[in-house]
Amino acid sequence: MAAPSIYGLSRRGLLGASLALAACQPQARSQPVPALPPLKSLAPFRVGTAVQAVHLNDPALAGLIAAQVSQLTPEWEMKMEYMLRDDGGLRFDAPDAIAAFARAHGLALFGHTLIWYAQSSPAFERLDESRVSFAGAYRNYIHAVMGRYRGVAVGWDVVNEPIAEDGEGWRDSLWSQRLGAFEHIADAYRHAREADPGAALFINDYNLESIPKKRASFLRLVERLLRAGVPLDGVGTQTHIDADLAPGELTRTLGELAQFGLPVHVSEFDVSIRRAGGLLRQRGDLQRAQAALYAEAAEAFMSLPARQRFAFSFWGLRDSESWLLREDGADTPLPFDAAGRPKAAARAWAERVG
Ligand code: XIL
Repeated sequence: MAAPSIYGLSRRGLLGASLALAACQPQARSQPVPALPPLKSLAPFRVGTAVQAVHLNDPALAGLIAAQVSQLTPEWEMKMEYMLRDDGGLRFDAPDAIAAFARAHGLALFGHTLIWYAQSSPAFERLDESRVSFAGAYRNYIHAVMGRYRGVAVGWDVVNEPIAEDGEGWRDSLWSQRLGAFEHIADAYRHAREADPGAALFINDYNLESIPKKRASFLRLVERLLRAGVPLDGVGTQTHIDADLAPGELTRTLGELAQFGLPVHVSEFDVSIRRAGGLLRQRGDLQRAQAALYAEAAEAFMSLPARQRFAFSFWGLRDSESWLLREDGADTPLPFDAAGRPKAAARAWAERVG
């Protein structure tokens, strides 16, 4: 089978995808029943987690995921760094494995992410000299990736993190330089809509609760895209927060994001203990503050109109898999401990979604 490439799509390559997706993985063994009912059984909205293909080979973790959540977001294996080879070819094995697990367990799949300032690729960088146009390859990439999961993914983060760190304007990137600051964003959504008309198209960013200026810029961009008729269906707030975030900021942020009437995705929730500074130094205090923020997030999400609650996704379930461990091995930002037992934070969250 000819592999699809951003330099020209192979129809056969795309068709092969649906066959690969049909192959189910063996059922993961379930782990001992947690004392708390599964989070997804309590919440009247989809509950998600980030996942890597390698996690699905760990029976205890795979069992926890299948039991607790109803939506999966590939943590990195649907990003350009994984999917796009230097020669312009595409790699689908890991994301296909995640999609197959989702299908086997009746979980939704959420695509993350197509265009991200933080990732470009030699396949695009070399297009200066190539006869293939940059704009054509940009469209081909979005079509190839989304086309593979057409009718499978419920939604996509089409553009991730478009707002500058301090909230002053937008990110500079290969995409903005070659296609235009606003145009590359607008075009990504237009291509995405064509590629999978059934997928909900999201814009996603972080620090929206801790940097009001960044939140304001994000909201202005959403408004501008909608005014321009760009097919944007939802807003995502990553919600990587620290345990010392002031109470009320999460609630304010979700309220402001809901102003357009679009679905809202809490897309990457975790609460860092180790990044928190200030007066709350004791670990016990920080853990209580963490639980309070889990409770606030659940309550604020529940206060949105039901039709605007797209999903609430954790950026991992067990502390032992958190991406924050790379920064500080003692961090414990997630709802379950390393043994898969629900923490006080999970209980606080669960109490507020019922
Ligand atoms: C992180 C993943 O957790 C890591 O495994 C990866 O190496 C880098 O990216 N915002 C995002 C996510 O949108 O894609 C990031 O995920 C975390 C911050």
